[in-house]
Amino acid sequence: MDKNSIVELGPPRLGQAEKDALNAVIDSGWITMGDRVRQFETAFGQLHQTDQERAVAVSSATAALHLSLVALGVGAGDEVLVPSMTFVATVNTVMHAGADPVFVDVESAVRPHMSLADAEAKVTDRTRAVVIMHYGGYMMDVAEWRRFADKHDLFLIEDAAHVAGVPAAGHGSDAAAFSFFGNKNMTTAEGGMVLLRDAGVAERVRKMRTHGMTSVTLDRVRGRAVSYDVVECGFNYRIDELRAALGLVQLEELPGWNDKRVAIIGEYRTALGASVDTMVVPFDGDHISSGHIMPTVLPVDTDRLAVMEHLKSEGIQSSIHYPPVHTFSYFLERFGEISLPNTEEFGARQLTLPLHPGLDSYDVTRVVTAVKDALGKS
Ligand SMILES: Cc1ncc(COP(=O)(O)O)c(C=O)c1O
Repeated sequence: MDKNSIVELGPPRLGQAEKDALNAVIDSGWITMGDRVRQFETAFGQLHQTDQERAVAVSSATAALHLSLVALGVGAGDEVLVPSMTFVATVNTVMHAGADPVFVDVESAVRPHMSLADAEAKVTDRTRAVVIMHYGGYMMDVAEWRRFADKHDLFLIEDAAHVAGVPAAGHGSDAAAFSFFGNKNMTTAEGGMVLLRDAGVAERVRKMRTHGMTSVTLDRVRGRAVSYDVVECGFNYRIDELRAALGLVQLEELPGWNDKRVAIIGEYRTALGASVDTMVVPFDGDHISSGHIMPTVLPVDTDRLAVMEHLKSEGIQSSIHYPPVHTFSYFLERFGEISLPNTEEFGARQLTLPLHPGLDSYDVTRVVTAVKDALGKS
């Protein structure tokens, strides 16, 4: 292996098995939603210890979040508690449902989980739901948030985009939305899955992903239905057989890949602790996690761009998770200045290092050495 090659942030892992699976779909002559989608739902449900009726595969996690909110009846006049330390889809989908997002701060400037205390302070008589996000793959305490939701009679939704393959995800909430985007722990290029607590809501989501129709094209082709009724104002949020076939292959590997990611994070923690102890790695090494990304928090007043430039010059990719949503132009224009001090400080100091199952100890050492050199210069 070329030890001076680029250390990528988190490339997709795709090989012959994925090519064979795609070829099999093409050879089958049926490419839109069909039997493989159902198999994918069953397999994903099994991994998350949920039956297939409650697992609905969709075109993205964004679709999964939007469908969940709409199917639960969250809409105009409702407020939804959301993190700002997240990807923007968590918040956009609340607005697409017609509800108003209410931003909640994180626990501290080095611990980016949504703060229960700040959420308590922001509940009003219009609050209808709370969306929690398992930042970086580190599981939030769902049971604690369930108690909070029940106390205030709210729906609890998990933005589970980062935690595919963590069996605890999707239990205790009303809906959990997973992402299979190209940078996630498993990928179908674009794609998502939603796990629903209530079988009736799941049935509604299933219809709403395909325009609210009572049968799908394959039912009619196979002679299982002659026509259809439309019983909801739905969407086209379907996934297809090609993506489901990729998903079935990737799902087989997912538990092993997640374990590998967690092990590499352990190596990073040890190496950073030994040589760059001014840098914080959020959460503990034994926190339940999918190992989705490798977030760090730089020392106060570090020139982050200079660190990223140095890493780039050493062939090491890095990223920021995330610029806080409430600071984007659109949100500033729409909601004005909002103060979330911990989110803002975390967002300003955060730096994500490369993480994927293909990294080895040499790569980790190379990244940590480059970070140490960059901080020395900074
Ligand atoms: C936290 C979070 N929520 C939602 C999404 C949206 O996922 P998708 O691209 O599958 O719509 C992402 C994807 O990056 C994410 O990281």
